[in-house]
Amino acid sequence: LPPLRLGVAGLGTVGAGLLALLERCEGNLSRHCGRDVVVQAVSARSRGRDRGVSLEGVTWHDDPVALARDPEVDIVVELIGGSDGPARAVVENALRLGKPVVTANKALIARHGHELAALSQQYQAPVLYEAAVGGALPAVRLVRDTCSADEVLCVGGILNGTCNYILTEMANTGRSFADVLDEAQAKGYAEADPSTDIDGVDTAHKLAILAGLAFQPLDFTSIPVTGIRHVTTEDLRFAATLGYRVRLLGMARRGLGASTPPEAWVQPCLVPEDSALATVNGVYNAVTAEAHFAGPLVITGQGAGAGPTASAVASDIAALARNWPSRTHAFPLWGVHSQPASGRDVL
Ligand code: HSE
Repeated sequence: LPPLRLGVAGLGTVGAGLLALLERCEGNLSRHCGRDVVVQAVSARSRGRDRGVSLEGVTWHDDPVALARDPEVDIVVELIGGSDGPARAVVENALRLGKPVVTANKALIARHGHELAALSQQYQAPVLYEAAVGGALPAVRLVRDTCSADEVLCVGGILNGTCNYILTEMANTGRSFADVLDEAQAKGYAEADPSTDIDGVDTAHKLAILAGLAFQPLDFTSIPVTGIRHVTTEDLRFAATLGYRVRLLGMARRGLGASTPPEAWVQPCLVPEDSALATVNGVYNAVTAEAHFAGPLVITGQGAGAGPTASAVASDIAALARNWPSRTHAFPLWGVHSQPASGRDVL
């Protein structure tokens, strides 16, 4: 079988991480999926930057939309970021050409998931976004696959690695907020604009995605959000004295009636020191779900950074490769209903 050809738009932290993974783990996709996968084309702002991987023989596009439209690209991997602008144009162009898309872009899915779902359905091209929530964790799969036949009661958890890193480093070392934030940025955890992390917006994006899968489409701008900007080392010390840790949580709970929207919020919370969430430190995330039959589920792992996020992107590529040429079985396609009974049909 000829190899599947990837077009990777965006070679920042995650894009470079994906190339490093594909280079190091060469052969794994063909062993597990029966198909080789090659990087056919890339696009990024700076051509000359050393990314620590070879781009020999790879087509370079200055315009990411041209990459999406390149007839030699089978699967478009969008790692540019941002809810609008080039990222959205890349995804829409790919879908209109019937090309599957893999993206790590939580802002794009949270804000425009509905429109993308319609395009995805119209052109029979899936959009996979496991890397948009929880870094390496199979958070989207947990809700969409594991719980897909069950009745989800609540979903959420620690969804931002930067904030968890800041809160736990401040608590454990007494260092200042600004100092630890600088470090989180240097480690590649934080967003381009880190206020998206520390003001809770990134958590709200991810929560909207999980709640959309579990319940019904949720406008992330309707979620009340308080970030961690004003949490001090004194707050963390007092919490510890009382037997608590502070974690930024995003939680969504099923509405009481079929037509009642889910209740959702993002805020720093006191969690008992002997609870599962209190043991989640550093850049780790914890995604929790409770379903009527399954009961409570918690998964933890690294929620940000090049390696963990690239690993989730690669898992979506593997899902497509495994099922190629079928585009509908890699994951359930996003279906679009005018009156959706359940968000999981939509996102
Ligand atoms: N800035 C995000 C975080 C990256 O810290 O969790 C992963 O989505």
